[in-house]
Amino acid sequence: MPGSVFQEISAFAPDAAASPRHVAIIMDGNGRWAKARGLPRIEGHRRGVEALRRAVRTAIELKIAYLTVYSFSAENWTRPFEEVQSLMGLLHLFIRNDLAELKSNNVCIRVIGERQGLPADIVGLLDEAERTTQKNTGLTLVVAFNYGGRQEIAAAARCLAEKAARGELSPESIDVDTFGAALHAGEIPDPDLVIRTSGEKRISNFLLWQAAYAEFVFLDVLWPDFGKLDFIAALEEYAHRDRRYGGIDPKPAIKTAS
Ligand code: IPE
Ligand code: IPE
Ligand code: MG
Repeated sequence: MPGSVFQEISAFAPDAAASPRHVAIIMDGNGRWAKARGLPRIEGHRRGVEALRRAVRTAIELKIAYLTVYSFSAENWTRPFEEVQSLMGLLHLFIRNDLAELKSNNVCIRVIGERQGLPADIVGLLDEAERTTQKNTGLTLVVAFNYGGRQEIAAAARCLAEKAARGELSPESIDVDTFGAALHAGEIPDPDLVIRTSGEKRISNFLLWQAAYAEFVFLDVLWPDFGKLDFIAALEEYAHRDRRYGGIDPKPAIKTAS
């Protein structure tokens, strides 16, 4: 990347309106962050919540319209019981402590993922977060919790099949648009940019359908260390990408109008 990070920021920051519309983040590396310091994994998750706060503030500052964060996957239940309990507790604390600030910053919260099977208090909080912010018009923060891309696709297929079986839908009407609309937050535009921290280069069952033409940026930083400069560096890398969508004309990642 040419120039210093600070030059990159000054080049980028004034043109905040030219950011991707939807950024999705796989917040990975909490466990390794803790391990490197001889701390329990949960301490990494606690610091990860602070990094999430910073990321939300940066997204607001840069006027990004949609930010999706992968906070607990459908497969994360396979972790030790104590870690799963701690992660549930942290989600609880995050919503309890941060909901007021998010509301006052005009953030609209959406939750994607399977709610069935989650503890009742968590479901209540997720519902409250969505209900009390639904009229907000600033950043849409999509929290992927108990989320799996394959599970989401299977659920949409089941829902459409049930409608067809009841005679409410003709199978011929199922296409990419109607299928996409049957997903958890079907009205939200696809992510333009998917960032994964921690150095892993895989999708781990995240937004499998929606990320079909997303740009991917993999960062070596562990999630608890992710800060505003890392966010801006990822946006800067995105800004240099050409998106072709299967065609031959490169479309600059950043469009002046959409
Ligand atoms: C991401 O950090 C947080 C969740 C998956 C909930 P990890 O806990 O996966 O951290 P690593 O990958 O073990 O370092
Ligand atoms: C993906 O990270 C899930 C979240 C960040 C919530 P994982 O750490 O669970 O993914 P794998 O196991 O490395 O693929
Ligand atoms: Mg991980």
